[in-house]
Amino acid sequence: MNHFKRNRKCFCLAFVVVVIIVFYLIYGPKLARIDKLLLDTENIDFAALSLSKPNLNETGLEFDIIPNIVHFIRFRNPYVDFVLLIAIKSVLINHKPEKIYIHCDCVTLKGKYWELLSSESKIFVRKIEEPKYVFGHKLSSVYHASDVARIKVLMDFGGIFLDNDVFVVKSLKKFLKFEFSIGWPINDYLGTQVLIAHKNARFLKLWFQSYRDYRPFKWYYNAGELPTESILTKRPDLVHREMTEFGVHNLVEFLYKNNHPEEIWRSKFYTIHLLERHRSYMVPEDSIGFFNENNIKTYNKTFGAMARSVLF
Ligand SMILES: *[C@@H]1O[C@H](CO)[C@@H](O)[C@H](O)[C@H]1NC(C)=O
Ligand SMILES: *[C@@H]1O[C@H](CO)[C@@H](O)[C@H](O)[C@H]1NC(C)=O
Repeated sequence: MNHFKRNRKCFCLAFVVVVIIVFYLIYGPKLARIDKLLLDTENIDFAALSLSKPNLNETGLEFDIIPNIVHFIRFRNPYVDFVLLIAIKSVLINHKPEKIYIHCDCVTLKGKYWELLSSESKIFVRKIEEPKYVFGHKLSSVYHASDVARIKVLMDFGGIFLDNDVFVVKSLKKFLKFEFSIGWPINDYLGTQVLIAHKNARFLKLWFQSYRDYRPFKWYYNAGELPTESILTKRPDLVHREMTEFGVHNLVEFLYKNNHPEEIWRSKFYTIHLLERHRSYMVPEDSIGFFNENNIKTYNKTFGAMARSVLF
């Protein structure tokens, strides 16, 4: 009798061991395959991934999924101006990308400020055509063309898109593990000046598709109003939202009227939109019409110190 009971115990133990072994044989390779799927960072299916990671937009992944490439777009003007020089310098010094692509409807960039950059081995000029149509609608301005092109470039490559007048204050590396990061100030539309995206990001595709309803004469409809109201307010989980630290809200006073110390602009922001095209009417009293390497030396507003920190 006792002998029989002992045998039964042995049998049960053996059974448990066999079950564990079988479990590993069946599911071990599957678990490994899921790891591998995630490691294939080019082809992430974010809809599938978000089922197992509900807070994907808050946590990101445990590793970088976006290439450390910075993209600029330049249409109808191959001359690098002083503010673009500052923007590119700030990326090189404060972010340290692997590569910078300047997508231009030109073969080479020009001007004395370009000469200061052209020996930089990380910078590549890539010829693209300025888009003239979107879903059969004629684009009404070069600005709208650039809005469309930035979405397409990110769908092709992924990476960090920056407008021609964005100053990078700190490394953006921490955002390379998110599907899509964007500056979206409170009670406002999204900002298109800083976009950090995986090429498969769900929001990129939805945003592009929303251009089927293109309004040529509404300035910020397709770039800001429509994608914010029809996509993001309903699905805020699609993006990692930065309300202030991408500096895409109106910082004209901060930059050109006050002189904030370096600790302030270094600690508050990752990037700052310099609003260069809007400065002349927003700060008409500013004595400097166009910044250059001479007048920047004595410009005693916040932007002066920022520019000097990457120039000299
Ligand atoms: C992440 O998505 C949730 C909605 O699921 C949203 O409430 C939250 O603000 C988002 N977080 C960030 C950092 O964007
Ligand atoms: C800042 O510059 C303006 C004009 O160049 C000058 O009038 C003013 O005295 C300067 N302020 C300081 C604190 O240097």
